[in-house]
Amino acid sequence: MLRRLLKSHALVAALGLMAHADFQGATHLVDLDHGGIRYGQEKSHGRVARLVDAVESGTRRLEWDGRFGWMPSLLQALEVSTNSQMLVFSKTSLQREHIHPHNPRAIYFNEDTYVGYIPGAPVMELSEVDGRLGGVFYTLDHKRSERPQFKRVDNCIECHASARTMGVPGHLVRSFETDANGIVDLSTGTDSVDDRTPLSERWGGWYVTGTHGSMTHRGNRIGGDFARARKDPTIGGNRMRLDDLFPGERYPAPGSDIAALMVFEHQAHLHNFIARLQYMSTQHLAAYGHVDYLNSPLETFVKALLFSGEAPLTSRVVGDPAFVKSFESAGRRDPDGRSLRTLDLGTRLFKVRCSFLIHSDAFAALPGPMRSRIYRRLGEVLSAATPPEGYTHLDEAERRTIREILAATLTDLPAGWPKAAAAGSSAGSP
Ligand code: HEC
Repeated sequence: MLRRLLKSHALVAALGLMAHADFQGATHLVDLDHGGIRYGQEKSHGRVARLVDAVESGTRRLEWDGRFGWMPSLLQALEVSTNSQMLVFSKTSLQREHIHPHNPRAIYFNEDTYVGYIPGAPVMELSEVDGRLGGVFYTLDHKRSERPQFKRVDNCIECHASARTMGVPGHLVRSFETDANGIVDLSTGTDSVDDRTPLSERWGGWYVTGTHGSMTHRGNRIGGDFARARKDPTIGGNRMRLDDLFPGERYPAPGSDIAALMVFEHQAHLHNFIARLQYMSTQHLAAYGHVDYLNSPLETFVKALLFSGEAPLTSRVVGDPAFVKSFESAGRRDPDGRSLRTLDLGTRLFKVRCSFLIHSDAFAALPGPMRSRIYRRLGEVLSAATPPEGYTHLDEAERRTIREILAATLTDLPAGWPKAAAAGSSAGSP
């Protein structure tokens, strides 16, 4: 076991030394059953796990709906809004034979749970974020019965723990050209999409509703559209409706919202990164008693948290007001009513560039030594006289706002953390 840990540490060190040192692209699979966390044996405590317990013990019932089966009642029980609906038609996932541009797969989400629904498919697919295990996966048999039948399915990690999920159980977002049937052309792919991916590379194989001015993206293109788009890159863009493309009555919401997609991509990536830090920190604490060797991933995590390298928006994005409202109204606020969930969508995704996932249960579940190091580094970056390399996108006003919001909304910041009063920064300004 020691040898395996040392080997994994050598790999971590090697990744840190890579020329472009982009740990966010980390790919090697973390050992999921040794060194502390045992993915295959441990119980999850995520939102789906809690619902499954409640359903099995009879304290919660789900209702079967004549049109959508378990879906509406399931979403309600998980506090997932239908406004978060996103539609993907590329045959990139499990029940691929049921997915087609005429029958896309719908994905719904909140800050810790994802639900997949394909009209007519035998199972619904769910994933949740567990603080210790990372992504945990379930199916729900999509047939009427007295009690819905959920199953935790660990072999979903065949795809959901790979280079594309940072080597830990997590969430996938991809972008490919597809033919008229949704079959992907693997040579055209963007393996993992996050907030750093330019919009022009996003959403191949996805439907996208909402406007985005003169920016272009690959959504809503099927088959020959991709060839035509090489001459006219506006093809597929700025669509408000999809009802000529598939039977809309099969879904509870009309669109595949652009703002929901952008939040989802940021969030899925951060969830994967938090899970990776969880596994690595736990393994390092077991092997060495400290997390001193994890400085490189820690630094890139802080960059991801503060949206370093985010793809800039050059036109305004307008998403579905219903999604925007339900997303923004959740989460913590400071006494002035400021929140990390307020969307900007003019030049970037969020008004204040510190991820709202710093308030998530998964972040709170990171081992104490790792969490306090992250806070310490955040404190340094947010209060330095001039922002360090990689953080120059954040001016003093924005860094101050982040400090103030974090100070008011987190209870576990280390003593001496630079709260409202600017440390080095205001001293130097006139
Ligand atoms: C063949 C690879 C593959 C397998 C196996 C697979 N998935 Fe996925 N899954 C994907 C891809 C790719 C996506 C990204 C969206 C898309 O392209 O449809 C995805 C997305 C999802 C999502 C949306 C959010 C997220 O977590 O990424 C859920 C929920 C999900 N899968 C559940 C499951 C469950 C449950 C299983 C096992 C029963 C499973 N998947 C097995 C490839 C797979």
